[in-house]
Amino acid sequence: MPAKILIKVLVLAAPLLQLASVVSGFPAHASLAGLSGRDYHYVVSQLEAKVPAPPPGPLDFNGTKLVDDPEHPWMPLQPGDVRGPCPGLNTLASHGVSYLPRNGVATPVQMIQAVQEGFNMENFLARFTTYSAMLLDGNLVTDLLSIGAKTSLTGRDPPLPALAGGMHNHGTFEGDASLTRGDAFFGDNHSFNETLFEQFKDFSNRFGNGFYNLTVAAELRFHRIQQGIATNPQFSIAGFRHLTAYAEVTFPANLFVDGRREGCMKGQLDMLSAERFFRDMRFPPGFFRPAKPTATEGIDAVLAAHPVQPGANDGTSVDSFTVDESLGSLLDYCGFYTQFVNTTIRGLYPNPTGVLRKNLDMNLQFFFDSLSPGSNCTQVFPYGQPGEGGMA
Ligand code: HEM
Ligand SMILES: *[C@@H]1O[C@H](CO)[C@@H](O)[C@H](O)[C@H]1NC(C)=O
Ligand SMILES: *[C@@H]1O[C@H](CO)[C@@H](O)[C@H](O)[C@H]1NC(C)=O
Ligand SMILES: *[C@@H]1O[C@H](CO)[C@@H](O)[C@H](O)[C@H]1NC(C)=O
Ligand SMILES: *[C@@H]1O[C@H](CO)[C@@H](O)[C@H](O)[C@H]1NC(C)=O
Ligand SMILES: *[C@@H]1O[C@H](CO)[C@@H](O)[C@H](O)[C@H]1NC(C)=O
Ligand SMILES: *[C@@H]1O[C@H](CO)[C@@H](O)[C@H](O)[C@H]1NC(C)=O
Repeated sequence: MPAKILIKVLVLAAPLLQLASVVSGFPAHASLAGLSGRDYHYVVSQLEAKVPAPPPGPLDFNGTKLVDDPEHPWMPLQPGDVRGPCPGLNTLASHGVSYLPRNGVATPVQMIQAVQEGFNMENFLARFTTYSAMLLDGNLVTDLLSIGAKTSLTGRDPPLPALAGGMHNHGTFEGDASLTRGDAFFGDNHSFNETLFEQFKDFSNRFGNGFYNLTVAAELRFHRIQQGIATNPQFSIAGFRHLTAYAEVTFPANLFVDGRREGCMKGQLDMLSAERFFRDMRFPPGFFRPAKPTATEGIDAVLAAHPVQPGANDGTSVDSFTVDESLGSLLDYCGFYTQFVNTTIRGLYPNPTGVLRKNLDMNLQFFFDSLSPGSNCTQVFPYGQPGEGGMA
């Protein structure tokens, strides 16, 4: 709310010169959630609206291949480049524009193409992940999404919360109990954390004989949840986060392991490669992507090893974890879908109009089309059927 009030003050009362710089500084990738009425119309009038293109299909050639190639040279960060909580996307951006733009701002289509081309991520998962991120954190008018953190409207520090674009927005896509990132409660929620990476290596030594694999994933996933419950009064793994928390721990074993590894070394990630991805945002030298389209294979075993239900601490005290199934979970996929659309997204955009409404409907359709094949969820239209004329 303070952000909204501040915008109002700026829009209504600021000297023209200052106003112009604020508006020209509005990031084209920042989410419009939280803006309404004249604020919304004012900002949108300054943005270049785009009709979102439909998502790309699966890769034509879907086998392994060299992806750390001369066409995709890694480069260190330049001023203005943003990186965020996802080591996969960070890596693709640092290898440049034929994967992702180096500044870290991309369209959903670019993002889907990049994760398929660079990591052989399976098409449904690539679309599901991208459109959920777009709906939560993207700018639905400009069709742009930042992979990163820290976007500031005016260069002020700290950035205005409702306008800060990117996937670090806590309670949206970014969440608690990450393997190598701290919880938002402790301040920094997106940077690589050396202490947590030491724990990652320790678990890989203890349960994976020096490698990260799905056995390690199960143990470390459980341990990070226990750590969160015991130290973070605001800890939460409800709804979408329950899904992503389990999905993400499979990625290092499924997607960061060189696609030429077969036999007993398949799914075993060595620590030097892990460090390249997580810390340096860089492919290991000569890296080959996985040998076939890959998703969250093994997630059921990871959950089954130490089943934890969705839920949260009470907000004020540690060790107060209570099960909360109201937003669905990995265990209730269609419940997750329904609440994500009908509660979370509608909460972000209670009353969309014009181009925002149109693009929201399109992104919601792309999202529904990306749900796991066979999940058979009933489609939800939070703003009425498209074409019904804007009824909520
Ligand atoms: C398809 C588009 C993708 C989007 C929108 C996305 C987004 C995200 C976000 C927002 C997080 C942070 C969640 C959190 O832990 O708080 C995350 C974590 C993660 N992502 Fe991605 N991601 C994508 C694809 C990928 C790919 C292709 C890989 C691997 C090749 C990957 C690997 C990971 C891993 C390992 C984590 C967990 C990091 C940790 O726990 O420290 N992601 N992703
Ligand atoms: C990979 O490509 C081959 C050949 O086009 C196709 O038969 C196969 O179904 C594809 N695999 C996946 C998982 O899409
Ligand atoms: C996440 O981290 C960024 C950068 O440190 C910070 O600006 C933002 O406020 C944090 N989000 C939350 C909810 O703490
Ligand atoms: C990294 O995480 C540890 C453990 O949660 C925490 O004590 C430390 O302050 C974090 N370091 C930074 C630089 O945020
Ligand atoms: C992980 O590594 C350990 C130690 O080598 C091994 O016992 C376990 O079976 C491996 N798990 C998987 C899923 O590869
Ligand atoms: C969506 O939310 C509205 C308003 O809260 C409610 O009337 C409707 O039944 C919900 N739809 C579903 C499918 O849950
Ligand atoms: C999908 O759901 C519909 C309605 O909920 C149901 O009638 C149908 O039998 C389901 N189909 C499958 C394959 O589960």
